[in-house]
Amino acid sequence: MHMSADLAISLNDKRLKIYELLKKGYSGERIAKTLGISRSAVWKFVEKLRSLGYEIDRNYNILSIPDPSPLDAALCSKKLGVERFLYFEEVDSTNNVAKKEERSCVLAKRQSAGRGRLGRKWESEEGGLYFSFEFPRKVPAVKAHRVTILIGLVVAKTLENFKAKIKWPNDVLIEGKKVSGILCELVGEELSSRVIVGVGINVKNELPEELKDKATTLKTYNVSVTDVFCSFANTFSEIVNLEWNRILEEWKRMLDTVGKEVEVRVGGEIYRGVALDVDEEGALILKCGDKIERIFSGECFYM
Ligand code: BTN
Repeated sequence: MHMSADLAISLNDKRLKIYELLKKGYSGERIAKTLGISRSAVWKFVEKLRSLGYEIDRNYNILSIPDPSPLDAALCSKKLGVERFLYFEEVDSTNNVAKKEERSCVLAKRQSAGRGRLGRKWESEEGGLYFSFEFPRKVPAVKAHRVTILIGLVVAKTLENFKAKIKWPNDVLIEGKKVSGILCELVGEELSSRVIVGVGINVKNELPEELKDKATTLKTYNVSVTDVFCSFANTFSEIVNLEWNRILEEWKRMLDTVGKEVEVRVGGEIYRGVALDVDEEGALILKCGDKIERIFSGECFYM
């Protein structure tokens, strides 16, 4: 069960236009005229913005914008190929909501039950970026790993200026510490599944003490949650339609695993060896003694 959204908006809703005009400094009267709506409709939406944490004075000047900014995020989410945007101050898990809402992007300020891979918990204090969206195409289950690789690449490119690298298969690291996690979940038919993409990025959230030697945030870079989200959405739109070979090539360029001595856990099994390469589907090629193993998915640790 999740609570109701603090904002649920279709991406062709006129309220997004109101917001854009407010940001441009238009008066209430001018907005109403421009959009062909009543002044009370403008007023009502300004009240809604105030309740979401925007500071707006009597003359409709925006004095401060919350972070994340639900309206800016909604505008940016158009680049993800979705039709609807939902924002929660708090929700159990944005993936859970996105599964139920077709073609949506779901953003939360914090999650009470954020989920990680392999049934783990994902720490989701305020200050981090937590969102999920439906991938714009349906995908056969056997190709779902390509979506995960694509999203890992999008996150890494989004954070490229902060020296982000990818640890196989799709953890994004900065200076060896995890800054982001991706959880893709399939819904529906095996031959044509909806893919729910969930992304968590540590932006300026406080990390629990026990995670501090494994995880990091973007705190020292002074970026806003909204900016990281919008830059993800822009990067996504630039690469989502590239051919698989191009994506793989770019992904390999940002991959930090090849050449390293690693341990990979796959279910109950443990492989130790040197990562030689990745194949044309992103599987890891590992030299374990004199055996060569090809590993499709698992959890990788650097030795
Ligand atoms: C991992 O284990 O590395 C994946 C973590 C994925 C976390 C994100 S946060 C937004 C979305 N909602 C969730 O419950 N999980 C994903």
